[in-house]
Amino acid sequence: MQSQLPIYPEQASNFAPNVDSLMLFITAICLFFAVAVTVAIVIFFFKFHRKAPNDVGVPIHGDSRLEAAWMIIPLILAMAMFSWGAVVRPTKPGRYHFFCSQYCGTNHALMGGWVTVMEPSDYAAWLSGSSGGSTNPLVAGEKLFAEKACITCHVPDGSGRSPSLNGLYGAKVLLADGSTVTADESYIRESILQPNAKIVAGYPPLMPTFQGQLTEEQILALTAYIKSLQSLPVPAKGSGIAPPTGNK
Ligand code: HEC
Repeated sequence: MQSQLPIYPEQASNFAPNVDSLMLFITAICLFFAVAVTVAIVIFFFKFHRKAPNDVGVPIHGDSRLEAAWMIIPLILAMAMFSWGAVVRPTKPGRYHFFCSQYCGTNHALMGGWVTVMEPSDYAAWLSGSSGGSTNPLVAGEKLFAEKACITCHVPDGSGRSPSLNGLYGAKVLLADGSTVTADESYIRESILQPNAKIVAGYPPLMPTFQGQLTEEQILALTAYIKSLQSLPVPAKGSGIAPPTGNK
């Protein structure tokens, strides 16, 4: 259990000691108020309970200093917790699990991910594509394009019901709503993860989403591969690229 739900996971960034002490601080504040309120309830119970059946309590009209105190003290405490943050700087290479910190909706509990911390040299190697079996992203992307069956829909010559991706990168794409969009990296990423966000004019929205099925590395590899198709001949029919005049 402890390993699945560590109260204090391993500290691996300059941020971690802060978060751990913030956690302690919040727990201490909660304990303090829980005890203080409970003790006050018990004391007041004995002090103010009705001693005779016809007892009438002393009327109290409030105390503005007390009112101010219980607004200002919690405000200061909350501001202190709020500003307890810092910029994360990892201090230890490794692979670390993280959780979504915002309660955002259905399946929130399943929203997590992994942060991989690498030495600068390893990171540079990973960026240049030489880590992990020396596959370069372009080659990996071409392989994925076949493995993930992109190729069965996106036939290079534009035959079939999906646009050819030849010449796509950097070009203007005509969308079903009549607008155009420049096919940059973020458009390609969105097209893969949320294919229905922007539908290419003249094509049915039949592309499945690949959200959750591709790692960040695989998305970058596919993008690199699609970018490499930039210089290939664009088929006259069967491409999403806007015709030179078309900006209607
Ligand atoms: C079932 C068929 C199908 C599969 C499989 C498929 N796509 Fe698509 N894709 C489409 C269709 C149809 C469109 C055009 C309609 C739209 O915009 O959603 C499209 C659009 C795109 C676009 C935007 C194209 C443009 O001209 O603007 C990109 C980029 C893309 N797909 C990449 C991929 C990648 C990468 C894969 C594999 C991981 C993939 N697709 C798998 C059918 C498919």
